[in-house]
Amino acid sequence: MPHIRQYEAHDHDSLYEVCLRTGANGDDATGLYQVPTILGEVYVGPYLEFHPDLSWVIDNDGTASGYVLGAPDTKAFESRCESEWWPQLRERYPLGSFAPDSLDEEVVGDIHVPPRADQRVAAAYPAHLHIDLAPEVQGLRLGGALISVLLDTLTARGVAGVHLGVATANTRALGFYQHLGFAVLSHDESGTTMGKLLPPT
Ligand SMILES: CC(C)(COP(=O)(O)OP(=O)(O)OC[C@H]1O[C@@H](n2cnc3c(N)ncnc32)[C@H](O)[C@@H]1OP(=O)(O)O)[C@@H](O)C(=O)NCCC(=O)NCCS
Repeated sequence: MPHIRQYEAHDHDSLYEVCLRTGANGDDATGLYQVPTILGEVYVGPYLEFHPDLSWVIDNDGTASGYVLGAPDTKAFESRCESEWWPQLRERYPLGSFAPDSLDEEVVGDIHVPPRADQRVAAAYPAHLHIDLAPEVQGLRLGGALISVLLDTLTARGVAGVHLGVATANTRALGFYQHLGFAVLSHDESGTTMGKLLPPT
């Protein structure tokens, strides 16, 4: 039975794979990127490195097939990435590493100029999260359970709120977050920011 457990170091590569398998607005991005690990290096790696205590996985017969990853203080996380995560990736992937209009080069652009959370959003909803489940463990109420584990832990630590970014094209994820009580904070054609306040302890 697939079940939730805390992240362990041996899950690392499987989680990068989950990130790729859900990297096209929730659908499989395998084959779309020249470097299959590049999405994981940006959207998974720093969370496992800096906040393994806020990283849970879906263990499906011993293979990590999904994750929720949290950063409790987004601005502190961004600063830490700036000093301890992006420099090595900037060295590995200089600007122009890939064809100008390729998806890999789009990620390289984010490595060199990482998108920053809006100050007002980060003030009211200091934490942020990422969640991705491989298709074989979707629709089993495990995504909702992963969000609960993370939100309960953030609440217990006194965090006031949590936000996330989702591709506006990912209508399934938008419905999922809305169902779990997240509100739309901002919205345009490409991206939607959602947030949820957490109860005071
Ligand atoms: C989106 C995702 C995290 C949802 O996880 P999941 O395990 O499939 O969803 P769950 O089965 O836990 O659903 C939890 C609840 O949300 C509801 N729900 C799920 N999707 C919904 C939708 N699109 N609209 C309304 N409700 C939805 C479920 O019915 C369930 O409700 P209930 O527990 O009250 O019956 C998962 O499908 C996924 O990882 N998709 C691919 C990657 C992705 O899009 N990640 C998000 C990127 S921002």
